[in-house]
Amino acid sequence: MIDLSGKRAFVTGGGRGIGRATALMLAQAGAGVAVGYRSRRAEADETLAGVRRLRRPAIGVAGDLGDPAAAGRAVDEAVQGLGGLELLIVNHGIWPSDEVPVAAMTDAQWGGTLRANLDSVLYVCRAAIPLLPDGGKIVLVSSTAGQRGEAFHADYAATKGAVISFTKSLAVELAPRRINVNCVAPGWVDTEMSATPFAREAGKGKQEIVRTIPLGRLASYRGFLFGSHAKDGEDLETFLGPEVRSAFDNLVDRAPDGEIEIAGGKTVQRYRANWKLQLENSIDLLHPRILHRSAIDAADRVEHGGKPPSIEWDIVRSNGLTLREWDGMRIAALPRGHCWMGGSLTRKIDESPLQKRYREILVRRHGESRTDEILAFNRHNTIVYPNLFVNSRVAQIRMLQPVSVDCTEQHGYTFRLKGAPEEMFEATIRMVNTNNSPSSIVTSDDHEIFERIQQSLAGGGNEWSDLSRGIENESDAQGTNELPMRNQHRAWAEYMNG
Ligand SMILES: [Fe+2]
Repeated sequence: MIDLSGKRAFVTGGGRGIGRATALMLAQAGAGVAVGYRSRRAEADETLAGVRRLRRPAIGVAGDLGDPAAAGRAVDEAVQGLGGLELLIVNHGIWPSDEVPVAAMTDAQWGGTLRANLDSVLYVCRAAIPLLPDGGKIVLVSSTAGQRGEAFHADYAATKGAVISFTKSLAVELAPRRINVNCVAPGWVDTEMSATPFAREAGKGKQEIVRTIPLGRLASYRGFLFGSHAKDGEDLETFLGPEVRSAFDNLVDRAPDGEIEIAGGKTVQRYRANWKLQLENSIDLLHPRILHRSAIDAADRVEHGGKPPSIEWDIVRSNGLTLREWDGMRIAALPRGHCWMGGSLTRKIDESPLQKRYREILVRRHGESRTDEILAFNRHNTIVYPNLFVNSRVAQIRMLQPVSVDCTEQHGYTFRLKGAPEEMFEATIRMVNTNNSPSSIVTSDDHEIFERIQQSLAGGGNEWSDLSRGIENESDAQGTNELPMRNQHRAWAEYMNG
């Protein structure tokens, strides 16, 4: 659970729907909440009662936020009532429920929706930004209508699309003050706003809308959200299994404060090849020494002047381990196609002043033996089949998004370990730039080779792809054994055959 003890939040449109749920969750996490509403006092009172039941400060703030003066007053009241403000959730809005084609849209409806859903966002943010402390948070609520449009609701969709652009602009503006500005775009949610379309044709409307939502189930592990398209099936913890769970555990446990935050932006790389090639590649210990030759040579030219090497250098250089060393590395093929490979970093990294300082912080929090346990978790990669790579040692997760049978996108995310020296995060960013970003001297070569393999396979000259290396010794697999790849394909065949 996120701990927001002592924080103060203003949730606009907090009387009902998503706003009420947000206000109550903030209170559950420990925050005091100001609940904004326009005219429906009784509903706002109900939210406030819920917050008070959780023994958190709660105040109601009335006002029509489409009026700049009223928006300014509302923000002032929230700040004065709570004694400060760290979190601003701009959630209010209207959804004119009649289906109106653009050709018939009146000026009154267009102007009214813009005023309620967009002008008001500016007014609230403009008033609140000077009052938020550095490191504060702003969350704006958009809608999937703002991403993909909504026929016969162009006014609503246009305002919600604008909120996304507004968020992106503001996020950069406020970055120097470390104020995170984010946007959520919920799809259909069963609130009062959806009542009319849900009720269409005696309830058929809801059935039709539910059919358009692919997500069957949602579950989380250590704060990571997972979705499943299947309505039924095994639960998340069973699906991950203990060895994959331990990779997420270690990613979070490495933060001295026990919490990590996604930070540093995101890398996206698209290549023209099937996603399975990267799954195989990431556990293939035979290729680094050959494919990454130029990166290894570049690393060999770096002078360290007697100092311990940087982590990004070490990861690049580790591609050049000898075949014997790669074969000595531990690999594991797990149920459901998951797998992992051991760490390839040299222990010299641990001798750097930064690592020593970090270790001392962990020892102060956890004591020697628990710290050793956390730091001894030595894996390069844990692969959550079929689309996630967890690198807890360098605080990185990569996700594969298949675009088509011969096109894949890799999305890379980095994390800041709360309570760790800021230089750790800087090292993570440097590591990603060198090893896994579009400008990296390592992954770019992998992507290039995926495209060549795809082209070669598309030629149709090869009846089979040979993944038999080590097949005679699956129980005691050496590092370069292709067991994890066979394991992936077995899992895939099982999924495909039900
Ligand atoms: Fe590679």
